[in-house]
Amino acid sequence: MNIDYKKLAQKYQTPYYVYDFDHITNQYNELKEAFKARKSILAYAVKANSNLSVIKHLASLGAGADCVSIGEVKRALKVGITPYKIIFSGVGKTDDEIRQALELGILMINVESAAELNRVDSIAQELDKVARISIRVNPNIDPKTHPYISTGLHENKFGVDIDTAKRMYIQCKNSNHLEPVGIHCHIGSQLTQLEPILEAVEIVATLVKNLQAIKIELSFFDVGGGLGIVYDNETLIDTKEYAQGILKTLFGLDVTIICEPGRFLVGNSGVFVTKVLYEKTNGNKRFIIVDGAMNDLIRPSLYNAYHKIEVLNDETEKSLCHLVGPVCESGDFFGKNIELPLTQHNDLVAIYSAGAYGFTMASNYNTRGKVAEIALEGGEDRLIRRRESFEDIIALEEEFIK
Ligand code: LLP
Repeated sequence: MNIDYKKLAQKYQTPYYVYDFDHITNQYNELKEAFKARKSILAYAVKANSNLSVIKHLASLGAGADCVSIGEVKRALKVGITPYKIIFSGVGKTDDEIRQALELGILMINVESAAELNRVDSIAQELDKVARISIRVNPNIDPKTHPYISTGLHENKFGVDIDTAKRMYIQCKNSNHLEPVGIHCHIGSQLTQLEPILEAVEIVATLVKNLQAIKIELSFFDVGGGLGIVYDNETLIDTKEYAQGILKTLFGLDVTIICEPGRFLVGNSGVFVTKVLYEKTNGNKRFIIVDGAMNDLIRPSLYNAYHKIEVLNDETEKSLCHLVGPVCESGDFFGKNIELPLTQHNDLVAIYSAGAYGFTMASNYNTRGKVAEIALEGGEDRLIRRRESFEDIIALEEEFIK
């Protein structure tokens, strides 16, 4: 990636996110190619980066969408993803969301509890529709990732255990308004080990075979997302081995494979660029204060996540410092005790691997407007979300006193 960060800063000011769409294309093609031996859908996990242009770019490559709110479903439909490639997951869908999903005719609702299945059944009955169902199985596998992004253990809130899933499929079969079409598991995010994924797929495949024995035939096997990316020096899962491992585990099952990558597709396409406001020392602690903050990119504050950081100046001598933002929280940092060169006012700082769970987790805390988002494609830049103004931030509020 060869990006002229200075030119972009002059044109769009700072802070900004820039996404390299050519990188996204390459990531998509690599994974799609790995699954080429079978029917597959790559359903992009919209939560990772839900900018309409990003989703539209993936749609143009043939991606479907994995959504966790009706808002995400509507984003996917808006950019032209066919309803038959859209999945709606999530542990807490509201009645209204279920109703809308049924009316929009998406591929399947991924149900995460027996209670939810009952709601879908009655809402489908009210609407006189048949709901296509997949059930999220929690295989109780430790994915060996950060506990906040581990989802496939019984102690996590996601999905249902195997026995409950089986009962739910039988309920689907016996209902006039439910059609069991798929099965799903997702054990966590930023995964760097293949074994736990294959173990989970194996457990779920056994359930699929048991269901076949009682005449419940499923057409879609959703292996979830979670493929990790390099933030620091991680060793990654090889996409070919990943796909081959899954294909082998599912040998003999006539199912379309669905995979729901988010971070893998967009994470390393994105850089968050901010500029230096001040340097100071408190006692012997050196601080670099930049114009971006935790409200723009919360991963370091929330998960103590590592993002590679570079100051874009010519200084070579480095010393330890904290890189922090202007927000009134001690947790507002991008890096603590990291080696950075001496900086001047307005020097640019690049924070890498920020394309996934960056902008989508941003907030207006401290009445800070959300930053600009820029796409780069074939060397050309374009603004895909303008910077929020003060007026944008207060647009929905009333000055009302009694
Ligand atoms: N499918 C399901 C059911 C998911 O829950 C997730 C992510 C994905 C797919 C996509 O996972 P990915 O391929 O992006 O790893 N905010 C956290 C990550 C939360 C992930 C939530 N679920 C972070 O910044 O690391």
